[in-house]
Amino acid sequence: MANWKMNLAVEESASLAGQLAKSARELTRAADVVLCPSFPALPRVLRQIAQTDIALGAQDVFWEDEGNFTGEVSVRQLRELHCAYVIVGHSERRRLLGETDEMIRKKTSAVIRNNVTPILCVGESNDERRSGRQELVVASQVKEALANIRPPFLAQRIVIAYEPMWAIASGEACDPAEAKRMGEVITYALLELYDSPLVRDNFRITYGGSVTADNIKEYVDFDPLEGVLVGGASLNAESFLGMARAVIPSAPPKKTQPQRARRAKKKR
Ligand code: PGA
Repeated sequence: MANWKMNLAVEESASLAGQLAKSARELTRAADVVLCPSFPALPRVLRQIAQTDIALGAQDVFWEDEGNFTGEVSVRQLRELHCAYVIVGHSERRRLLGETDEMIRKKTSAVIRNNVTPILCVGESNDERRSGRQELVVASQVKEALANIRPPFLAQRIVIAYEPMWAIASGEACDPAEAKRMGEVITYALLELYDSPLVRDNFRITYGGSVTADNIKEYVDFDPLEGVLVGGASLNAESFLGMARAVIPSAPPKKTQPQRARRAKKKR
């Protein structure tokens, strides 16, 4: 999952999406790939990836479906733009824009109610980790965000991204074993809310924070971690593809058309 934040202009987003679309087969061969550009770039990025299996996501959403909410964007509108995912509760929004657990709960509910997959971000601050409160903080963020979501509404998958604030854009990724342990803390929090088959089938726990091509492998297949939310390293095609190549199992090169034609000729 690529979170481009506010780093790219609309044209730049479209151009990067176009470059990635050219390698879409390779990218989506072994992973679900989601691009989350900023709102104004969504239609242009959609056009670039329309013929591929790359999915589109938004970086935020409002909790009401329509009404007098100046400047806000609804899940309904995002669905019209074919967004299959929405990031909710990113720490930059919690920290810089005062998003509270209650706002995040309402946003998560709105996304799920509209059959879109939320990418719910949770993670402790530096101070919270230093004082040893990371487990309490993260478990509480998970339970608060999902408090209104009861099993009948859980028809689709929910992605939870463990993103410790101190690891985001710092170049200092969380130690994989620790990220895995926090993934387990999230699993236990989910088990307090739901039955274990539901937790197993409907949730996907991922990691985010200074992921690059060099360290991605340690987070994508490290039970319970099953993927990554990437900011900085997803902002150019080369490093994006570098990450994909680091995790996609190598397959024998596909036979080219001329090779196939030559073989068919020989048989005849
Ligand atoms: P980063 O950002 O990969 O640049 O650390 C991750 C995120 O904030 O989602």
